[in-house]
Amino acid sequence: MEKILDVREMVPRERHPRIFDTFKGLNPGECFVLVNDHEPRPLLYQFQNEHDGEFDWWPLEQGPQVWRVEIAKRKVNDPNRTITEYLQTDHRRLDSIMERFQNAKQTGRWEEASRDFREFNLGLRRHIQIEEEILFPAFEDKTGMRDAGPTFVMRMEHTEIKGLLEKILNAADSKNATQIDESSRALLNILGDHNMKEEHILYPESDGIFSDFEKVQVIKKAQAV
Ligand SMILES: [Fe+2]
Ligand SMILES: [Fe+2]
Repeated sequence: MEKILDVREMVPRERHPRIFDTFKGLNPGECFVLVNDHEPRPLLYQFQNEHDGEFDWWPLEQGPQVWRVEIAKRKVNDPNRTITEYLQTDHRRLDSIMERFQNAKQTGRWEEASRDFREFNLGLRRHIQIEEEILFPAFEDKTGMRDAGPTFVMRMEHTEIKGLLEKILNAADSKNATQIDESSRALLNILGDHNMKEEHILYPESDGIFSDFEKVQVIKKAQAV
């Protein structure tokens, strides 16, 4: 069962202490979902200052009324993270949301399915944004590879992926199971191959050319997307 900490009814000065207490009470590998009524960015910066390398930060819903973010305690507490480990963790996380979505859809639990898919859609679009706006430009600057390099291919595949997300979103809204299945299959096909290329080529290459400091900067900027 997912641990949830809803701080919306709490007086503001009690919120951060409660959140950090909840985090400290987690075992490595566990997480909780924070529910708030505003963008919790100052909280992220506080986590980055006080718990560097100890946590993961995965937004599940970003307004306009409710903000939900999954805050996880990493199994390894190490401030020197790699691009591969960070983004691969996000790939796996998204895979498991997709699986939840498909299970819910299969058994006709439409409300759950649509919530799961919204989480997946937000998470994958955010993941793509992190790659296109933070990682790829840094990679391109270092290597000088732009139009013919691996990031060029990845960007083209992202466009295809976003098109399929849109299709599934529309199909989920109209509860069109056949259309969902068709587009989900196409999406998982592209995504499987795409993620593999990133995890085996692009991310390790990035880890090879960035300094430890640069890697940490990429990850900190990524968390704030
Ligand atoms: Fe990608
Ligand atoms: Fe990726």
